[in-house]
Amino acid sequence: PPELFAPQRKNAVGIDLSSPKERAALEQALTRAISGERRFVAKPGIGSAANRHAVRNPADRREVIGEVAFADAEAAERALAAAHAAFAHWGRVRAEERAAILERAADLLEAERGVLLALCVKEAGKTIVDSVADWREAIDFLRYYAAEARRLFAAPMPLPGPTGEDNRLRLEPRGVFVAISPWNFPIAIFTGQIAAALAAGNTVIAKPAEATALIAEEIISLLHKAGVPEDALIHVPGEGHVVGPVLVGDPRTAGVVFTGSTETAWAIQRTMAAKDHPIRPLIAETGGLNAMIVDNTALPEQVVTDAIESAFRSAGQRCSALRVLFLQEEIAPKVIDMLTGAMAELQVGDPARLDTDVGPVIEEAAKEELERHVAAISAQARLLYRCPLDERHAHGSFVAPTLVEIDRIGRLEKESFGPILHVVRYPGSRLDQVVESINATGFGLTFGIHSRIDETIDHVVSRVRAGNIYVNRNIIGAVVGSQPFGGEGLSGTGFKAGGPYYLLRFAVERTVTVNT
Ligand code: NAD
Ligand code: ALA
Repeated sequence: PPELFAPQRKNAVGIDLSSPKERAALEQALTRAISGERRFVAKPGIGSAANRHAVRNPADRREVIGEVAFADAEAAERALAAAHAAFAHWGRVRAEERAAILERAADLLEAERGVLLALCVKEAGKTIVDSVADWREAIDFLRYYAAEARRLFAAPMPLPGPTGEDNRLRLEPRGVFVAISPWNFPIAIFTGQIAAALAAGNTVIAKPAEATALIAEEIISLLHKAGVPEDALIHVPGEGHVVGPVLVGDPRTAGVVFTGSTETAWAIQRTMAAKDHPIRPLIAETGGLNAMIVDNTALPEQVVTDAIESAFRSAGQRCSALRVLFLQEEIAPKVIDMLTGAMAELQVGDPARLDTDVGPVIEEAAKEELERHVAAISAQARLLYRCPLDERHAHGSFVAPTLVEIDRIGRLEKESFGPILHVVRYPGSRLDQVVESINATGFGLTFGIHSRIDETIDHVVSRVRAGNIYVNRNIIGAVVGSQPFGGEGLSGTGFKAGGPYYLLRFAVERTVTVNT
């Protein structure tokens, strides 16, 4: 077998949620973290704040978690100037030292699980299981990119040349990286972007999503505690449309790493393309219209488990989430019947409870948009099932997990970022047209196939244009180092996060030839 690419590192220890002892310790840590003794506040690392507001729990808007002060344009500009100046020293820190700092940060994140998980549950509305996965992934990113910094940056690569000539290829940091992240992985994506940029020797302006600035502030303080200089990593919480253009439009910004919607990626790309500015990399990881194809040979029980996980974990608020399930005609009635049965068992509610499967969506505006989508699509399709909601959901932004049958994927123009699964039936003779219709959306993030025929699997896998393809399993939860993650087309630029080429995007290459 080929040699595995597996840089030396420890995986996050995680939490065994099946152990009563570990569960009790976790519940205690969560309660302690948000017990009112501690006031959670996020503010710009440098400079002034424009508007302050209370942060509320998406599962119960009456509960205030803390307070955020957003940076104004002037503060963003000051942060950029400071990070630009800091590059003179951080950019010269040896790769080994950068790696050691990131590993210390991983240990600190591991130790501070109580606060981080509590904020993930209370600020982002993620269930405990999803919060643990988010936290573990962040720790894995830190250790993976630390190992990658040692592998790629420690020494220049010697290259052949004629006698009397010494050729070396060096990887060098670029300068200030602006890291802009979404709220749906407020620990993993926020930390992963920063860790990659720092590992490569860049300084970083970290701009978290508006909704998750408190948890961002905690992570930044742990990174500083681990040894990242305060001016080499500056927190700029703020509204995207206010601070974003200031940060990405400034010629001192050497690169942007962005995860979020395709629309925002376009806006950033346009701003970065200003005339007379240096040409800089944009690493953009965006949304998807992710599909799964199920043929008649698939195991219905496995399909249902995987479809439920893929569509409804994290309340469907994963870029990787399943949006369209294609069922071959003969197997469709049985799978739909079992799917609705499984949906009826889903516990929708308070994400702080261990038995909750589906928590709230991030905010009221998201809920309203999803409800508009369900109303519009139901008018031209068949609403198959919605999970019941009641007065327990009245104070939170809950959207009922929904199953709706449509006639083709082309009915959907963009991703609906929530717990809504669309089903399309197809005759076996039209498998190629199904694949073409998936490719024709222009998105290319995750894809799944369930079949027990190897030829069908090979045929489909070789034709689908998607970054992460899963066979006979769910399509979420990519693991750092095992499933490098990211899409193509409308879903992103690559390189893949948690993969062996990612750090290269954060570096410049310099060839040095010496006449000896
Ligand atoms: P979003 O695009 O609304 O916001 C993402 C970030 O961009 C936020 O920090 C926001 O403040 C900032 N922003 C907004 N306008 C900006 C501007 N003009 N200039 C600079 N920055 C600006 O996305 P979201 O709602 O936070 O996240 C959900 C989206 O993220 C979904 O589309 C989802 O599919 C995608 N996502 C993709 C991945 C991936 O790895 N491919 C992972 C998670 C989420
Ligand atoms: N990396 C995340 C997943 O695979 C988005 O679900």
